[in-house]
Order: sequence, then structure tokens, then C-alpha cells
Amino acid sequence: MPETMVAPSILSADFSNLKKDIEMINGSPADWIHVDIMDGVFVPNISFGFPVVKAIKQHSKKPLDVHLMIKDADHYIEEFKKVGADNISVHFEACTHLHRTIHNIKHHGMKAGVAINPHTPIHFLEDIINDVNIVLVMSVNPGFGGQKFIEHTFNKILSLKELIKTTGSKAKIEVDGGVDLDNALPLVRAGADVLVAGNTVFSSPNPLETIKYLKDPL
Ligand code: DX5
Ligand code: ZN
Repeated sequence: MPETMVAPSILSADFSNLKKDIEMINGSPADWIHVDIMDGVFVPNISFGFPVVKAIKQHSKKPLDVHLMIKDADHYIEEFKKVGADNISVHFEACTHLHRTIHNIKHHGMKAGVAINPHTPIHFLEDIINDVNIVLVMSVNPGFGGQKFIEHTFNKILSLKELIKTTGSKAKIEVDGGVDLDNALPLVRAGADVLVAGNTVFSSPNPLETIKYLKDPL
């Protein structure tokens, strides 16, 4: 089994001292820094914008995995590239012209992902699965850190794994929301390639050890 990738979510970091938390991630085996952008329209919360992403990039040695929970993502792809995004995932539910948006992200030299809310069925991805590098499976309703993991996600990962196999897609399965020390191993066994973790990492007494555990929960 290939090793699990881990993306600590900066949303749960200490915003009054982001540099310290980024340096902790730099010194850890984490693969990406997950960066949640919320617009207060697509999701009922507002996080932060370009100047903060730029500041994160200045200190990060890890690629930035940007999760856009916004409407009209197309208008902002180029600017996110400029401030340092390496991957961009957009929501299936927020993109009318998803195929165009995915190719716009790739055109700007980034990895492109599609994120799906808990109610969105896997079979809706049939006609986009061969275009994306990442499927970001939401295991909570997006908008907030620290929510409870939705168990039905396991069925979705299994269906997605099957879809990837039958279509020959190279997409990675990334799971986001409520990932913790108990569900990490079952998630990897079900087929998750990338685990996002906010609360579990940043409210841990030892965030570095927690990242190490998530990286190798086997
Ligand atoms: C939720 C965000 C998540 C969040 C995960 O809308 O997309 O990335 O930061 O946080 P935890 O791991 O605390 O559920
Ligand atoms: Zn996220």
C-alpha cells in the first residue's frame, strides 16, 4: 500500500502566530498544507483571502493545497496561482462549467481537484473523473473545522475507488472533515490517499506526533 499523504488544515492553526504553526508543519512529514477559502455565500462562514495565503506561502516549504468553498471560482484562479497555490480544488456544487474550471486550473500549472459535499453522489463524477488530479471527498458539511465525521463517507470512498479503477483515472482520493486518530486507519484501508486534518492536529498536545501517526496509521 503506498504511504498515506497528510495535509494539516491551517484553518485550525493559531492565526495570531501562523509562522510558528507553519514551521511545525515544515519540520513534519506532512505532504501539503490544506488552505480553506470560504466566501460566506457558498458556505455559511468566511475564512481569509489572498494576503493570508501569500503570507502562508512565504513561510511554507510544503505545497499549498487550496480548497475553494466559493462561488465564481473562475474569477480567482489566476490570483490564487500568483499568491502560491499548488493545488486548487473547487466544489462540484458551486461550478456550473466545472470542466472549464478544472482545465483553467491545469492551464495555470496547478493540480486540479473537484470537491463534493456529503450529499453529492459519486456517480455525478463519471464525466469529470479523467480530468481531475484529486477528488476531495467532504466528510462533513463544509464551512467549519472541528465537526463530526459523517460515517457514510466510507461507502462513498469505496464507490469512488471503483469509479477510479473502471475509468483508469489517476485521481487521488482526499478526505476532508472530522478525520481523527480512530478513523484514519479505516479511511486509508477504504482507499483514502490523502487525509486532511485540522482539529486533530492543532488541538493535539503534540501536533508533530499526530502528523506522524496520520502519515503511517497502519
Ligand atoms: C471544512 C474544511 C476542512 C476543515 C477540516 O469546511 O474544508 O478542511 O478545516 O477541519 P477538521 O479536520 O477539524 O474537521
Ligand atoms: Zn477543506
